Amino acid sequence: MQKPDGLPAEIDLSRPSAARVYDYFLGGAHNFEIDRQLAEQIASMTPNLAGTMRAGREFLRRAVRVLLHAGVDQFLDIGSGIPTVGNVHEVAQSVNPKARIIYVDIDPVAVAHSRELLAGNDLTGVIQADLRDPGHILAEARALNLLDFDRPLGILLAGVVHFVPDDSRPGDVLATLRAAAAPGSYLVISHSTFEDQPREMLDAQRLSARTDTEITLRSRAEITGFFEDWTLLEPGLVHMPLWRPDAASDVDDKPEQFGAFGGVARYDRSAG
Ligand SMILES: C[S@@+](CC[C@H](N)C(=O)[O-])C[C@H]1O[C@@H](n2cnc3c(N)ncnc32)[C@H](O)[C@@H]1O
Repeated sequence: MQKPDGLPAEIDLSRPSAARVYDYFLGGAHNFEIDRQLAEQIASMTPNLAGTMRAGREFLRRAVRVLLHAGVDQFLDIGSGIPTVGNVHEVAQSVNPKARIIYVDIDPVAVAHSRELLAGNDLTGVIQADLRDPGHILAEARALNLLDFDRPLGILLAGVVHFVPDDSRPGDVLATLRAAAAPGSYLVISHSTFEDQPREMLDAQRLSARTDTEITLRSRAEITGFFEDWTLLEPGLVHMPLWRPDAASDVDDKPEQFGAFGGVARYDRSAG
């Protein structure tokens, strides 16, 4: 397949990419026919999926605002995706213009577009790296000299830990990230689940096996374990729309239909 101008040489246009399928669902322009075909197939099986992705973004924005109001002014956003409207740096810098953000994604298209969007924004950085190698992410993040790991940090893992299969030891990945954070830091996770889900949703999730990034659905208990002994903020790990909605009317009749839990935890000095 002909590669459009300006795209990184390493991108594989013969397989759909999770980041580009996600971009398509969010109404973005950074996707190709192969991504749209898979997106349409998934959408025909689960009409809720586009809503799920939007609910995921909304959860992330609400969580980032809560962290900003708690005084956090630096963020490590891993699995950040292809930039769309209302990115973390936009939300954060609209509240605190000095907020610093490092975006990390495995997908070369997501990284290329992030770099383009952020050119000239000195308080942001972009790293292409794999969450399964958190030591590498931390080393690259430190090398950028943008975040101060001795101060509270917001670690954002929105819609990405389910791309880490059990044999890549997601518990160890999370432990490495938590260990790098100072007391007062926060961990934000949203993660797909099989709990309370109809069969069509589970079938659609299986289609992710066609991308380089297959999804592992997990239980509420397994996802809660990723926070370890950090203090889960109210209302705990819940279906995403139920996490501190801006208005009660924003919560759909069936919040479980979006198939993912969201939660935020703080590293209190006594923990760890
Ligand atoms: C569902 S999107 C979530 C985007 C964004 N965090 C949000 O909530 O809107 C998942 C992103 O995770 C990225 N991803 C998947 N596996 C990854 C890995 N092992 N390391 C880093 N990023 C990964 C994908 O490329 C994609 O951009």
